[in-house]
Amino acid sequence: MFPSPLRTTVSALSVLLHLSSIYVASGQSCDCTSIVIPVDVDVLIPKDTADPFGGLKSNASSLRRLNDTYDVFGVFCQPHTTSPKNADVIQLLVHGFTYTNQYWSPPTEEFRNNSYTEFACDRGQSSLAIDWVGTGLSSRPANASDVQYATGAAVHSQVARYLKTASILPGIQPFKKIIGIGHSAGSILLTFGAIVDGAQSPFDGLILTSSRNLSLSALAPLLGATSARDDTPLRWGALDPNYITTSNRSIFYPTDPTSFSPRMVIFDNFTKDVGSVSTVLQGDITSVTSHYTGPVAKVLGSEDRFFCGAGECVDVAALTATERTLWPEAHSFEIVVAQGSGHDMNLDFFAKGPFNTFVGFVNQFTGL
Ligand SMILES: *[C@@H]1O[C@H](CO)[C@@H](O)[C@H](O)[C@H]1NC(C)=O
Ligand SMILES: *[C@@H]1O[C@H](CO)[C@@H](O)[C@H](O)[C@H]1NC(C)=O
Ligand SMILES: *[C@@H]1O[C@H](CO)[C@@H](O)[C@H](O)[C@H]1NC(C)=O
Ligand SMILES: *[C@@H]1O[C@H](CO)[C@@H](O)[C@H](O)[C@H]1NC(C)=O
Ligand SMILES: *[C@@H]1O[C@H](CO)[C@@H](O)[C@H](O)[C@H]1NC(C)=O
Ligand SMILES: *[C@@H]1O[C@H](CO)[C@@H](O)[C@H](O)[C@H]1NC(C)=O
Ligand SMILES: *[C@@H]1O[C@H](CO)[C@@H](O)[C@H](O)[C@H]1NC(C)=O
Repeated sequence: MFPSPLRTTVSALSVLLHLSSIYVASGQSCDCTSIVIPVDVDVLIPKDTADPFGGLKSNASSLRRLNDTYDVFGVFCQPHTTSPKNADVIQLLVHGFTYTNQYWSPPTEEFRNNSYTEFACDRGQSSLAIDWVGTGLSSRPANASDVQYATGAAVHSQVARYLKTASILPGIQPFKKIIGIGHSAGSILLTFGAIVDGAQSPFDGLILTSSRNLSLSALAPLLGATSARDDTPLRWGALDPNYITTSNRSIFYPTDPTSFSPRMVIFDNFTKDVGSVSTVLQGDITSVTSHYTGPVAKVLGSEDRFFCGAGECVDVAALTATERTLWPEAHSFEIVVAQGSGHDMNLDFFAKGPFNTFVGFVNQFTGL
């Protein structure tokens, strides 16, 4: 267990609302249902939203208590046909900065090849892709300073515990195993949870995509983030200025323009969302050692312009040796570099490579 003041108990979830008609991302092999899970969070977060470690290294006097209830929106997808072993397993999919659950399944036929949700269903695997608190259709606190990694990690751990103890829909049994799959800031969020929860983590394995231990303060300028209310006043004019977004999404794709659809970048720009300023400023979290005991895999795109520039991901063995020192108690630790993929590895023409890798790790981590 991590001896941090951030470790708190979060009280039990209450009622589950069921909204089946908002958005259904079903393909031929999937049944998808929108759900809302109310989550009570009682957690200590840094007073300083720019604390680079998100409170992990803070003393009590620099933390404040956040006690609130949020509605967490998600899309639950299950395959039409599944094996009994697969039926015990669910993947909790965690999007990155300025994305939503739709990162895991762009809701248009044109980009069906970019739907990990559907790819996984085709292989018998269920998933729940949720929106971060502050983003998409989940609750958005009026004050962006409430939306920090400590908050998000508590929410996601709480949702994971719920999936293991309750039936999320009539006829669906609680799941026995949960694999967390994060993208970018979503991977940092899962890492934060793994640091705080350690051996008590509800996750039976973690697949952390597009994330490695690099101080984000150096990378943040590449994002060109601006206040969401200035970027898109019609949609976000009333938001706290500490909710931010990006106006040029090209950086998320490889430099080679033939490796992704230009229409995807346009679609991405139209469907982008917001994140809180601390998502970008608390970028040293990945340098903190985790005592998580489950298996961990990292998947990076060889063309990731944040994390694999200048040949940084060529020597995979060296990269693995360095990064695994931060996960000393992990049951296993591997890094895979997906050739051709960019930072948004789900959204370019190489997506099937990483998708196969994710499914392989889920099977490996759950003993299927
Ligand atoms: C707590 O942390 C703050 C900020 O890092 C520091 O200024 C303060 O001196 C610390 N207080 C104690 C009692 O260590
Ligand atoms: C936390 O919030 C819940 C629900 O709003 C409330 O019932 C509870 O008393 C609060 N806890 C504390 C210690 O303030
Ligand atoms: C999707 O993938 C299939 C099979 O690889 C391919 O035939 C098809 O052209 C792809 N569709 C698009 C829109 O890229
Ligand atoms: C947001 O919350 C913080 C911490 O409680 C507070 O210092 C700040 O003034 C609040 N901002 C607004 C706009 O209310
Ligand atoms: C993104 O979309 C907005 C309209 O919502 C448009 O004004 C802007 O030029 C687009 N940005 C890029 C980089 O295409
Ligand atoms: C977006 O950024 C890229 C560099 O990453 C640049 O080449 C492109 O011109 C920019 N697009 C717009 C519409 O500003
Ligand atoms: C993690 O990153 C930090 C900041 O860049 C660096 O100081 C530290 O040495 C790195 N740790 C490992 C194990 O690479």
